[in-house]
Amino acid sequence: MRKQIAAANWKMNLTIQEGKELLDSILPATKDLKGNQEVIFAVPAPYLSMAVNKIEGLQQVFIAAQNMYTQKNGAFTGETSAEMLQSIGVTHVLVGHSERREYFAEDHQTLAEKVNRALEYQLTPVFCCGEPLKVREAENQNVFVAKQLEESLFHLDAASIEKVIIAYEPIWAIGTGKTASTEQTQEMHAFLRRVLEEKYGAELASRISILYGGSVKAANAVELFRSKDVDGGLVGGASLVAKEFDAIIKALH
Ligand code: PGA
Repeated sequence: MRKQIAAANWKMNLTIQEGKELLDSILPATKDLKGNQEVIFAVPAPYLSMAVNKIEGLQQVFIAAQNMYTQKNGAFTGETSAEMLQSIGVTHVLVGHSERREYFAEDHQTLAEKVNRALEYQLTPVFCCGEPLKVREAENQNVFVAKQLEESLFHLDAASIEKVIIAYEPIWAIGTGKTASTEQTQEMHAFLRRVLEEKYGAELASRISILYGGSVKAANAVELFRSKDVDGGLVGGASLVAKEFDAIIKALH
C-alpha cells in the first residue's frame, strides 16, 4: 500500500526552544499512526540534530533537511552535504522547493544533481514541483510540471525513482491561504501518476507517494487527502501550530 505522509516544512521559522516545544506537543499524536502512515519534519539546519534526538524510537517519524548541496564535500563555505546529513541521522531532504528555485536560482540540472547526491547517501528526496499562477491561468500547468519531473527525475532508474517522494505545490497556493480545489489537486496528481506510469510502468507509479502542498490546514486536510491520488501533504504555515498539524496528521487515511 502506498504511504500516506504528513510532512511539516518549518522553513526559516522558530527558535530552537520553540521548535522543541512544538515537537513535544506533536510527537505524542504520532503514536497512533497506522502502518502505511508517516510523519516528516523538515526543520531548519541548526535544529536537525535536536529533532533527530527527539524522534528516537519512533519508527514512522522522520527528520528532513530543507536543503543540501550538490557536491560531496570540499571548499563550499556555508553549505551542507548529504553525507553530513546522513551522519547525524537525517533520512529525508526537500529538493526543489519553489522558494529554492525562485530565490536561490536552483534549476532543473542542479536539482537532478541534488537528487542523485541524496540517493547516493540513502537520503529520501522529497521532490517539489508546481506551477506559478501565470502558467495555471494559461492552462499550461500539466506541461510545466511534467517537464520539472522529466528534467530532474527521469534520468533515474526504476529502483531509484521508487525511493523518491513527490510533492505537488502550486506556487499560487503556497502561503497565500488559497488552496487548490479537490478537483484541481486530484486532476494534477492523477496526471503526474500517468506521467510516471508512462515512463516507469503502472505498478511502480502506483507505489510513489504524491503529496499536495499549498495552504494545507486542519480545516481542509480531510477534504484534500480524500482524493485517490493525493497521499498526504507538505505543510508550511500550519505545521508551526501544534493543534493544526496534529489535525493534519489525523486527516491521513
Ligand atoms: P504553506 O507552505 O502550507 O504555508 O502554503 C507549503 C510549502 O511551501 O511547503
